[in-house]
Amino acid sequence: MIFNRYVFYVLMVLSIVAVNLILRLSPNMAMKATYVWLLGFYFYTPYQHDSILYPPIPWTLFITYMMLWTIGTFLYISQDPKTFADFREPIVKTILGDYKIARYVVFAALPVLVGMGTYTFIYPKYPEPVELRTVHPAPPATTKVHGKTYTLEGLQNPYRIDEQDNYYEGGTHLPVEGKFPFLDADSVEYMKYVTEGGSVFFENCHYCHGDQLNGLGMFSHVFNPTPANFVDPGTIAMLRESFLFWRVSKGGPGLPNESTPWSSAMPPWEEHLTTEQIWKVILFEYWYTGWHPRTFDEESSSGGEGGGGH
Ligand code: HEC
Repeated sequence: MIFNRYVFYVLMVLSIVAVNLILRLSPNMAMKATYVWLLGFYFYTPYQHDSILYPPIPWTLFITYMMLWTIGTFLYISQDPKTFADFREPIVKTILGDYKIARYVVFAALPVLVGMGTYTFIYPKYPEPVELRTVHPAPPATTKVHGKTYTLEGLQNPYRIDEQDNYYEGGTHLPVEGKFPFLDADSVEYMKYVTEGGSVFFENCHYCHGDQLNGLGMFSHVFNPTPANFVDPGTIAMLRESFLFWRVSKGGPGLPNESTPWSSAMPPWEEHLTTEQIWKVILFEYWYTGWHPRTFDEESSSGGEGGGGH
């Protein structure tokens, strides 16, 4: 005799029957139905290490078999009113509270167990994959905004009047002491553009990039990738204004393939802002953070220069 899994299964069923006969147990209908159903479950289930049915059947087939098995069990239960009443009795008593402990188990312990089971089932069993994506991809050679084609190489911000940011008295980029910078908008042309760019920023960008430009706008928390933090030395501080012009105009949809998988929420602003507004908001971002944009003279090795405060 080969003591394989099927023989083992038949012996197990027989021993259950034998135990019942010897002890003269006469389980009621609900108990019998539970036995039969569980035996079918045990036989078909593909989830144990040594499943009885071998090779283990696919999940969908298992569901089909168990449905048939359940229907068969139910047909047996409901063959006449007597057996059906037998089957219902413990269920009704549990619900009505005659079986106190059973009632606790069914209405308290069971939901908790199901909840825990679901939790462990859907909890990921492996770490998130590392996403390798290019945050600052190489920009295209040219970009077309509002019908005009711009060559990015050498493209300057038309509102950056002084390359060295020396806008104030004594050739400094710092405002005159005691004077609030925005109030200089009348006397210093540069501050006029910065102020206009500031309006554009607070009308459109701060929801995501934050009112301190630190990437912590009120909507920022729901986005992955998160909105860029312009205060961080790793963003606009090491970029050229032409790069920003391209990024702000084209947004997330304009990113090239090497920046995927990467569903950036950054909108393509050319659809809402004029070219002038885009340049001015860029000017504002540099002015606010105190960074100086990378220029075309410095090459990649220098990584751009970071300005201090203003
Ligand atoms: C809906 C949210 C949202 C709004 C509104 C938004 N941005 Fe963004 N922005 C992002 C996200 C997210 C990123 C980071 C992913 C990426 O680079 O596309 C980003 C990136 C950027 C970058 C690239 C920075 C870098 O280091 O490459 C610039 C520049 C930028 N935004 C400027 C703006 C400006 C200017 C505005 C307003 C006119 C604006 N953003 C409005 C979500 C937003």
